[in-house]
Amino acid sequence: MWFMRQAGRSLPEYRAVRERATLVEITHSPELAAEVTLQPVRRHGVDAAILFSDIVTPLEAIGVDVEIRAGVGPVVATPVRSARDLRQLREFEPAVDAPWLGETVRLVCSELSVPLIGFAGGPFTLASYLVEGGPSKTQARAKALMLSDPATWRALLERLADIAVASLTAQVQAGAQAVQVFDSWIGSLSARQYTMHVLPVVRRLFDGLAALGVPRIYFGLGTSHLLEPIGSIGADAVGLDWRVPLDEGRMRLPAEVALQGNLDPVALLATHQVLDAEVAEVLTRAPDRGYVFNLGHGVPADADPGLLTHVVELVHAHHGHRQGLTP
Ligand code: CP3
Repeated sequence: MWFMRQAGRSLPEYRAVRERATLVEITHSPELAAEVTLQPVRRHGVDAAILFSDIVTPLEAIGVDVEIRAGVGPVVATPVRSARDLRQLREFEPAVDAPWLGETVRLVCSELSVPLIGFAGGPFTLASYLVEGGPSKTQARAKALMLSDPATWRALLERLADIAVASLTAQVQAGAQAVQVFDSWIGSLSARQYTMHVLPVVRRLFDGLAALGVPRIYFGLGTSHLLEPIGSIGADAVGLDWRVPLDEGRMRLPAEVALQGNLDPVALLATHQVLDAEVAEVLTRAPDRGYVFNLGHGVPADADPGLLTHVVELVHAHHGHRQGLTP
């Protein structure tokens, strides 16, 4: 088990580092990035670390003018709206463009006793920031480009998939033992749109990672209507949000695909009693094998870290019980 966004603002020790350095400064400093990657492992005893970085970090490394604005999210100075604008997106060579990436992973792995998960942004989600110029609730401009200029759209997504493959390959070569692709915003697409305009590129991304030999996880938010197409991208595991019960997800995804999820992060803002019941409900519906406990989305910034540690204890107690390790 681990938590998406387990490193970050819910932890006072992260906020202390953030007082001295910006998010970009942290990601560019192997010492600081390693420190904040390790913080949730030390505090909560989760079973995996996730590299501290952001989905837009590789874009910034190849010169895209992108800024992560507090309380807003990534903002892109020159949005991508035409074939000409694709020139901003050159090939990503991690060893040259982002030497800190491999160095951070090596430093983290030298201090970790649990696996490190590497990650990258999914092609639709990164394209949405690039086309919109910033966060958007509907991804309307991105979807309009997708429908009106499918060739430019496809070229954009393919470049983003290649950037993700380059980044994830560098992370695995430096020691990451699993990878997750965050394609958070795909839920705004219909099944037909996803299948026609996104899925072939996601499949290419996962094919490009196959030779690395590590588990590959795919996560999107609000994907109840997309589970069948997602079942064919070639991922080893699929992360579900709280909208789909895990037992339903189990029936709708191929048997060889593991599941990850799906406690509603809002449960962390409720009472202890409610939280315990919500965790129990997730565990009741979880498959016996091929399962990773997680939230259905990231840890809320105002979550009580003590409650997160409590969730880790509950899940570990349940797991030990099922394996017959505790009386
Ligand atoms: O612990 C971890 O999970 C690793 C760190 C991580 C961050 N971003 C650090 C971060 C990960 C995995 C991400 C992924 C990410 N970034 C996603 C996909 C996951 C998801 O939430 O759906 C997305 C969509 C982004 C884009 C992004 N970056 C947003 C929307 C924000 C929030 C802006 C805000 O202030 O509300 C960021 C900034 C960001 N990335 C923060 C952290 C810890 C918070 C900003 C800070 O500390 O200044």
